[in-house]
Amino acid sequence: MRHLIDITDLSVEELDELLDLASDIAENPKKYQESCKHKKLASLFFEPSTRTRLSFEAAMFDLGGNVLTVSDANSSSASKGESVADTAKTVSCYADIIAMRHPKEGAPFVASKNASIPVINAGDGGHNHPTQTLTDLLTIKREKGRLDNLTVGFCGDLKFGRTVHSLIDALSRYTNIKFVLISPEELKLPSYVKKDVLAANNLEYVQTADLEEVIPQLDILYMTRVQRERFFNEEDYLRLKDSYILTPEKLKKAKEDLAILHPLPRVNEISVAIDEDPRACYFKQVLNGKFVRMALILTLLKEAGTL
Ligand code: CP
Repeated sequence: MRHLIDITDLSVEELDELLDLASDIAENPKKYQESCKHKKLASLFFEPSTRTRLSFEAAMFDLGGNVLTVSDANSSSASKGESVADTAKTVSCYADIIAMRHPKEGAPFVASKNASIPVINAGDGGHNHPTQTLTDLLTIKREKGRLDNLTVGFCGDLKFGRTVHSLIDALSRYTNIKFVLISPEELKLPSYVKKDVLAANNLEYVQTADLEEVIPQLDILYMTRVQRERFFNEEDYLRLKDSYILTPEKLKKAKEDLAILHPLPRVNEISVAIDEDPRACYFKQVLNGKFVRMALILTLLKEAGTL
């Protein structure tokens, strides 16, 4: 049974095939509108979400399928102490594929070991968010026409930002990517990502706390939110939450064809005055998220022999 738990579960060839399929879905949605007729997605969200849950559900509906939803841990038997393993075995009796978000790192992996249907990690704690990475890759490819020869800046919370970790992992497998890591000292990229991904692959990267200094070199600027829910100490959150606020003034120094991405939700880190700038791609990114999830559901159900 094939699952998607970590972005590295997919080879570069598989990633490219998925992105090509997602682009075809975006251009020819009618061709796919009955592809998953009578199939069911179980969307199990034990942590809040707007984009990921709704885009998975919209994806399954746009493929002609149906959706079973747990959108709140308190409304499921997880609140009575049921294990992730038992939940996965149970849901396998009702659905054809699972998308799971969970606050505990590794929970979707445990689900995949116990389910008899494909499991997709829809975000686990501060660990991984592979379908956001597919969304980000599709957005970069549609905006820049390529996934190589790019200088990519990651700005904000690089410590707890699971979307950052997964995207660095994915981009590290493409040619000539330069990484610019912009964060306060306390929110630097974890050393295990630097060691296992960047250093292990001999990749060029710089670390800085100064966004304005590096913004002129960037092809992609990936802004992130400082995540209140990951902090143990409210004082630290309050001190760090507004470390970076992208404004039209700061953007004056950026390239004309910079693409600004953000996995969203945004709090303060991108001024709403930037939303009308042609370089703002974060709402296009939201739509791309539905197309890649359609491509992923189709691919995993085909591999499972369900379609
Ligand atoms: N990008 C993202 O994961 O958004 P949600 O938390 O709203 O799903």
